[in-house]
Amino acid sequence: MTDSVMPTYGRLDVAFAKGQGAWLTDTNDKQYLDALSGIAVCNLGHSHPAVTRAIQHQAETLVHTSNFYHIPLQSQLADRLSVLSGMEQVFFCNSGAEANEAAIKIARKYGHNKGIDKPVVIVMDGSFHGRTMATLTATGNAKVQVGFDPLLPGFVRVPYNDLDALRMAIGHWPEAVAVMLEPIQGEGGVKTPDPEFLAGVRSICTQRKLLMILDEVQTGIGRTGQWFAFQHKDDVLPDVMTLAKGLGNGMPIGACLVADKAVGVLEAGNHGSTFGGNPLACSAALAVLDTIEKDKLLSHVQQLGAYMLAAFAERLEDQAGVKDIRGQGLMLGIELTVPCAALVKQALEEGLLINVTADSVLRLLPPLIINQEEADLIVEKVCKLVRDFLSTHAVESVA
Ligand SMILES: Cc1ncc(COP(=O)(O)O)c(C=O)c1O
Repeated sequence: MTDSVMPTYGRLDVAFAKGQGAWLTDTNDKQYLDALSGIAVCNLGHSHPAVTRAIQHQAETLVHTSNFYHIPLQSQLADRLSVLSGMEQVFFCNSGAEANEAAIKIARKYGHNKGIDKPVVIVMDGSFHGRTMATLTATGNAKVQVGFDPLLPGFVRVPYNDLDALRMAIGHWPEAVAVMLEPIQGEGGVKTPDPEFLAGVRSICTQRKLLMILDEVQTGIGRTGQWFAFQHKDDVLPDVMTLAKGLGNGMPIGACLVADKAVGVLEAGNHGSTFGGNPLACSAALAVLDTIEKDKLLSHVQQLGAYMLAAFAERLEDQAGVKDIRGQGLMLGIELTVPCAALVKQALEEGLLINVTADSVLRLLPPLIINQEEADLIVEKVCKLVRDFLSTHAVESVA
């Protein structure tokens, strides 16, 4: 298909006409089981009645005013997110990259307030924070950066999951003001750190008076089986947390939340967004939070995620060419020993939407509302695809 859309994406040859729950129908009436949720966005599935109702009602009432005025739905949403997370205040925007831009600006201003003229934010290898200039600089993937020099100054990179390297970098950079990371690296290949890593980062940041910035754009809003991935452990409350994706179930909305020493850093006139937190987006997000709570989706995700992880392990662990099976809740990765981007198209032909990231990691992010039958179908289809794929590729055994 050729059209006037700028070709910034390598698109698959399919277009969807409608969706219901975990299922999408293409323009030729073929059905697909969605194990990607628009990359962790449609966490309640497609056309969820509560979200649809909220959008319909709000569209008939008031879509947009301006942040020149009070927006009661924005205040309600900020209060709900603060209660759920333990954070204190929220800035609303429209995407994950924008939420991270706000976080980076907070880090820099925090540094300036302390008299540091050239603040440094410590970021991680393998990270992904977005495509704006600041967030692509923070991103630990050269492919995202190539062609866009000069990148921004003020970022230093350390390996993910390595507390000693983090301590060393902080020792080396007296201008360090913040550490920015994902609790599980999504685009980086569903990389789960050691159980003590996040708590370690928290305690280092506290000792050194640095802001801990957690990018929960992909992991937040129930994806891993807690509202936010940092809540799997005690005492990991970040100073800054960013959200987007699942917050609006497809209605564009992002959020940057602050606690403790990050509160009050941004003052009137320091930051803004025309659309950020408008009534329409906030009404959808409130419906998302209500539904996750009412339908007890967090325990559902914990149970189904553990089930799927165990099912994949049982069926694929001993398969030559499968290197690792990992994840938390319904954020799952199957790493192969060979690049496997071709699996995406093969899955599509079989009526299944999946993704491959970091070249060799099959990533699954199904809607949080999938039922047991749909979970079994995903496991069955994925295992067959992986086995068939590996049987036609030269693989080394890692056993
Ligand atoms: C962890 C993380 N941060 C930030 C982003 C960027 O979000 P957006 O595409 O909404 O700007 C993404 C998108 O994949 C992400 O996974």
